[in-house]
Amino acid sequence: MATYDIEVITQDGASVHVQCTENEDVITASLRQNVILMSSCREGGCGTCKADCTNGDYELDRNLQALPQEEEEQGVVLLCSCYPRSDMTVELPYTAERISYTTVDREFSAEIISITPIAPNVIQLVLRRSRKDDGSTYAAIFEPGQFFDIEIPGTDIWRSFSPCSLPNADGDFEFLIRVLPDGKFSNFMKNDAKPGMLVNVRGSSGNFYLHNNGLQPRYFLAGGTGLSPVMSMLRQMHERGDPNEARLYYGVNKPEEIFYADEIAALAKKMPNLTAQICVWHAEEGWTGAKGNVVEILKSDLEASGAKPDMYLCGPPGMVDATNQMCDGLSIPRDKVCSEKFLASGSSGG
Ligand SMILES: Cc1cc2nc3c(=O)[nH]c(=O)nc-3n(C[C@H](O)[C@H](O)[C@H](O)COP(=O)(O)OP(=O)(O)OC[C@H]3O[C@@H](n4cnc5c(N)ncnc54)[C@H](O)[C@@H]3O)c2cc1C
Ligand code: FES
Repeated sequence: MATYDIEVITQDGASVHVQCTENEDVITASLRQNVILMSSCREGGCGTCKADCTNGDYELDRNLQALPQEEEEQGVVLLCSCYPRSDMTVELPYTAERISYTTVDREFSAEIISITPIAPNVIQLVLRRSRKDDGSTYAAIFEPGQFFDIEIPGTDIWRSFSPCSLPNADGDFEFLIRVLPDGKFSNFMKNDAKPGMLVNVRGSSGNFYLHNNGLQPRYFLAGGTGLSPVMSMLRQMHERGDPNEARLYYGVNKPEEIFYADEIAALAKKMPNLTAQICVWHAEEGWTGAKGNVVEILKSDLEASGAKPDMYLCGPPGMVDATNQMCDGLSIPRDKVCSEKFLASGSSGG
């Protein structure tokens, strides 16, 4: 099988080389070599992995949702769906600081510690990395905001989930998982998963994490279980004592879908720099919090204040797309907006 050299050049001129076989997409090949380029859905749907190919030949998957024909004709590629046919040079629209490099094993086994329903369609799942042969623990290492892929035991079906917990020495991960009707992982969670069971986990992955932009305010918008990585980021801000103003806009459809309200309130109490709003779209009488579409509520706050904060968006693709468009409309530069879409069927097979 042919292997090609891919030179990846960042916006600030750094150059990284990865080796990619003809059957591999560039994101997968880079991950294999512990070079974490920006990506999210890894199936052509979000555009996070867009790059300019300035040299070389390649094939792209067909019907890529996030690559308009005119961009494709200009040599724009989605690296998650791009297979080399020669050595290539690609230019990234972000700086070297946004490429990360893992130092820990990427695939490991973990034990299910607990499975707890916390809202009608949301389960809290706690995993612990299996012990080393000598009985000592592996740490849970990731950048808050990143995700892991978890395999349904006995299948080769993987789904992506982002911990709401912080990295820790005990090897524990807490996930908030939305249960969908007839979803494969959802069915596993509802019917088969039991404490004590082992699952394979892969990661950490992704470029959804806090970026160091000095003292810029940070606004977080989370839809449903999109709250999970956002909680991890906010907890990291608290742990590090980041002084940046932080605002959380957490949106759900109905009051009964709210979860983690106590954890949010507890964090806001400990962080005087955090303001948190739970926004209920279809609020019934008696709901005293914010009412309406969370994107619209954020928009009217931004319009009123004229603020141009760093933005962190996570949740359903429609909500993230609408917020990106809103940021464009308010002239918030794209490089201040970091997002993660919870796309259907995870990022990695199955
Ligand atoms: C980077 C990343 C991080 C993620 N992190 C989380 C997380 O922390 N918590 C979490 O709950 N989810 C998260 N997801 C989504 C998760 O990976 C699964 O895709 C989702 O839970 C559905 O898996 P499933 O196997 O149960 O459903 P599937 O078997 O994949 O799908 C079953 C049916 O539901 C539909 N469907 C699938 N996903 C959705 C959706 N999001 N909304 C509406 N319909 C859908 C499908 O089209 C299909 O008809 C993340 C996704 C990505 C890409
Ligand atoms: S389009 Fe490549 S990661 Fe989403």
